Amino acid sequence: MSHDLIIRNASLPDGRRGQDIAVRDGRIADLGPAFGGAAGREIDAAGRLVTPPFVDVHFHMDATLSLGRPRMNESGTLLEGIRLWGELKPHLTPDAIAERAMRYCDLAVSQGLLAIRGHVDICDDRLLAVEALLDVRARVKPYLDLQLVAFPQDGYLRAANAAANLTRALDMGVEVVGGIPHFERTMADGAASVRALCEIAADRGLMVDMHCDESDDPLSRHVETLAAEARRLGLGGRVTGSHLTSMHSMDNYYVSKLLPLMAEAGINAVANPLINITLQGRHDGYPRRRGMTRVPELMAAGVPVALGQDCVMDPWYSLGTADMLDVAHMAVHVGQMTGREAMRACFAAVTTVPAAIMGLDGYGLAPGCHADLVILQANDPVEAIRLRPPRLCVIRRGRVIAETAPWRTALGLDGRPATLDPAAYAPEPDAGPGR
Ligand code: FE2
Repeated sequence: MSHDLIIRNASLPDGRRGQDIAVRDGRIADLGPAFGGAAGREIDAAGRLVTPPFVDVHFHMDATLSLGRPRMNESGTLLEGIRLWGELKPHLTPDAIAERAMRYCDLAVSQGLLAIRGHVDICDDRLLAVEALLDVRARVKPYLDLQLVAFPQDGYLRAANAAANLTRALDMGVEVVGGIPHFERTMADGAASVRALCEIAADRGLMVDMHCDESDDPLSRHVETLAAEARRLGLGGRVTGSHLTSMHSMDNYYVSKLLPLMAEAGINAVANPLINITLQGRHDGYPRRRGMTRVPELMAAGVPVALGQDCVMDPWYSLGTADMLDVAHMAVHVGQMTGREAMRACFAAVTTVPAAIMGLDGYGLAPGCHADLVILQANDPVEAIRLRPPRLCVIRRGRVIAETAPWRTALGLDGRPATLDPAAYAPEPDAGPGR
């Protein structure tokens, strides 16, 4: 039977090379060493890496691309960012939020990022952002999976109408329960908010994803409560703790007790290295703490760890390009994860792991999975992180939805090659001394 599309000579993230991928009716029909058969279209991957799409499980879609409104964050701190966002909120309109989110999704598609979990601030009584992003979720559905979290930015217990607004947002169709226990007035209020929010999720059969312990306070203990509540209510893998930056500064003995609790509870962890390397440690002199949670230790303990973008060009972060390889690249550095296995784990942390956390149906590289694929100008996941190269081809349900020309530089040097292909610099791992 003829196929709609065959990608020839692909390298896969697990190290398999020379693979063909056949697509029919929007799904992977066959995958294996070079096979025959005809197709409506063939794409020669020429040995390049073909991966399932990038997934960003932690993003603030309602604030993205609002950089400069009402003005720039001059101190670059979290608190000035929250203040600026508070000033902007009364002036937001659904159209403006939706327009910025749609533009961000265009950028995401160009980077092979086809699934995003977006936290939506529900502390504005008008719930304009919820309304706008539910509309965006429907509009982008043919090419991007957008999952929304009801996020009480100003505190679930601390902000007057947050509890009622969160219920309204869930009733409107927001599918994940958020929280921010470290922003409540006391540690006890924070714990109470975690309990209340986990019970709402259990009652409604929803997932939980909380901003948790996003501070430099070594005594912040909300992830412990989150894990305990996940266990008590049997929520397990439906629960995610995001940021978790306090873990970086916690007492080591305490963490040796905390990690097994998180693993036993089955909860997920999300680190946001681009944002937290810039926001944390702002009250420190020197030495100054790095602020990213304990990523390699969480992974070693068996906790699924994903890496999130968090912010792009908003009051908290003025940079960003929707490139999840930027995120993985920063995690490699901040977490000192420079071994080849550790770097592969960082690639998984922006692809397969967040896909599992989001519960994405049909994600992966196997017959029967959706034909959602990205061809990169790199040979393997480590090269992809090093180069952060063009996404040569982005495919959704078997259809090419974005193409980027390869990165190639013309050189004008006497006696040197005429062109330079950065992907041609890949090493041969463990090749011996050679010459
Ligand atoms: Fe966040």
